Amino acid sequence: MARTPQAEIEELREQLNQHNYRYHVLDAPTVSDARYDKLLRRLQQLEQDHPELITPESPTQRVGAIPLEQFQQVQHELPMLSLDNAFDDQEIQDFDRRVRERLDQDGEMEYACEPKLDGIAVSLLYRDGQLQRGATRGDGRTGEDITHNIRTIASIPLSLLGSGYPPVLEVRGEVYMPSAGFAAMNAQAREREEKVFVNPRNAAAGSLRQLDARITAQRPLEMCCYSVGWVEGGDLPSRHSDILLRLQEWGLRINAESAVVVGTAACIAYYRRLAERRAELPYAIDGIVYKVNEVALQLRLGFISRAPRWAVARKFPAQEETTRLLDVEFQVGRTGAVTPVARLEPVFVGGVTVSNATLHNRDEIQRLGLRIGDRVVIRRAGDVIPQVVSVIAGARPADAAEIVFPELCPVCGSVLEQEPDGAVIRCIGGLVCAAQQKESIKHYASRKAMDIEGLGDKLVEQLVDEELIHDLADLYALEVGSLAQLERLAEKSAGNLVAAIADSRATSLPRFIYALGIREVGEATALNLAQHFGNWEALVAASEEQLLAVNDVGPVVADHLRQFFDSVDSMQVVTEIRAAGVSWEDLEPREVADLPLQGQTWVVTGSLEAMGRLEAKALLQQLGAKVAGSVSAKTHCVVAGPGAGSKLTRARELELEVIDEAGFLALLSSHGVYEE
Ligand code: IVH
Repeated sequence: MARTPQAEIEELREQLNQHNYRYHVLDAPTVSDARYDKLLRRLQQLEQDHPELITPESPTQRVGAIPLEQFQQVQHELPMLSLDNAFDDQEIQDFDRRVRERLDQDGEMEYACEPKLDGIAVSLLYRDGQLQRGATRGDGRTGEDITHNIRTIASIPLSLLGSGYPPVLEVRGEVYMPSAGFAAMNAQAREREEKVFVNPRNAAAGSLRQLDARITAQRPLEMCCYSVGWVEGGDLPSRHSDILLRLQEWGLRINAESAVVVGTAACIAYYRRLAERRAELPYAIDGIVYKVNEVALQLRLGFISRAPRWAVARKFPAQEETTRLLDVEFQVGRTGAVTPVARLEPVFVGGVTVSNATLHNRDEIQRLGLRIGDRVVIRRAGDVIPQVVSVIAGARPADAAEIVFPELCPVCGSVLEQEPDGAVIRCIGGLVCAAQQKESIKHYASRKAMDIEGLGDKLVEQLVDEELIHDLADLYALEVGSLAQLERLAEKSAGNLVAAIADSRATSLPRFIYALGIREVGEATALNLAQHFGNWEALVAASEEQLLAVNDVGPVVADHLRQFFDSVDSMQVVTEIRAAGVSWEDLEPREVADLPLQGQTWVVTGSLEAMGRLEAKALLQQLGAKVAGSVSAKTHCVVAGPGAGSKLTRARELELEVIDEAGFLALLSSHGVYEE
């Protein structure tokens, strides 16, 4: 008997909900986007033909077409609390002591540790498994009804999966905008000359405060759940961490980094581990939340004023601070690019004192609407160079001065040229320009390039300023006699430096290519070029087409390479360097297809001790592998460090090869891209 439309609709909804769950909650999709879209289109078609069969929970019904007039108020049955903050290890010890004293407990406590996501607290109310209401926290007692916007967030199920959920279940969590989505959204806004958001938190808040859900639907929002609120009927597990796992089974997203630990030493270790990985997480976090894991103990501890006694937030050092812009200077880089640099009143941010920040280029100054004397917001996240995020409106002094971009190179007086397709402005002086001389020599001497010990930045500047050297080849003509005349350089150090320069002459081809500082040719590209061509002569003789055949080399890089090899001056310097005895052993040239992991797809999950995930990814790519974000049947191998979650589970389900960090490092070093 043919299936009724009703039966097909129900089956499609079930399938789509499952795929949505696998994609957004488990991070382990089993179908392609195209297949998902096809199922969704089929459902839309059937519902269009049979409008009487449409229900509010259908996956087609996420985005309402009619904007609201205003937000309704919502009374929270249980107040939405906030958290007390702790700023150092001692305050965590104090928190733990207070907890144990109150509970009269001698032994160590069990704590659930969770990242503190930097977004907006939200409450979801499910009745009989159907999403009935989404609300903001507001003042903790009264929030706003944002159901229409909440329904557009794909990681929030409109109906709970499975069974056994309480008939009334309020779930709480954080709605946030992942960093990649935030960056893409702002890039698009910039292109369209629309307003950009200062940070992902403001972007999430702004997106939820829309009356028209069609706008929210276009914003890359996600939700992570971290507790339950009002519950009627049903049974929930007795530990907080198990409740979260139960929420996950019902289709709600929880944080994969969460962990259960015993005692404060483990709490502190968790904080340190996550602080180190903070910059590589795909979303912004501003600290760690520790919660007494046993719900019965939470109830005994209760709360005071607006924060529970059973939880505390350990905050990371603030990544944003305000200070004053004192001046703007213009720096000339290795390739001649002129970068405006903000000189700031020193301010403590991201754990260090910052007195300079990059302003990128002329467009950025215009975009910020910046003037000297302005109060500005500075951001320093991880090891990223400090940035000026925004100007504080209304705080401009009367004598604030306009920033004038120079017309000529501030170092050598050559003409500045604007790149045709970019905001970059470049000094055309090349190696005539002392700034470019200095930067190219610093790069040449640096650890990953020729690794000339003792030739630090200050010394390079002195050598160029005293006109002892102008280009890379001049290094090899330096003598102890002339060096020892330099201020601050004793004869012994001069001798050591000459010896170090001589020692560095035995190098490798990848190092040498990288050391030349050709535009866009980083370490990885230099290695690829060396492995591909095997020797310098073959590389220099390569046509643009042959260069394009190298892994990771695109038209822009190929063009920079050809320009370098076609430049008589550059090649003259290389000839002189080689005449001075710089040499290496040629490699066996190998074609791309010979790369050891060519054609394989790898996934890296969990944390690694020896390197960040980005570095791991770059090394795998160097060996020819593709690196994917999610595990599927096509994955060749999964590198799983501690903390690996759903991706590892998925890999086991699919019986894929899984290696740990030790195995991974051994593999890298066997292929010569890592030294153990
Ligand atoms: S628990 C009673 N867990 O931090 C406990 N909050 O400063 C209240 N937040 O309003 C919240 N990540 O918006 C909890 N894993 C997490 C969290 C978290 C972020 C936010 C939440 C709350 C604020 C309190």
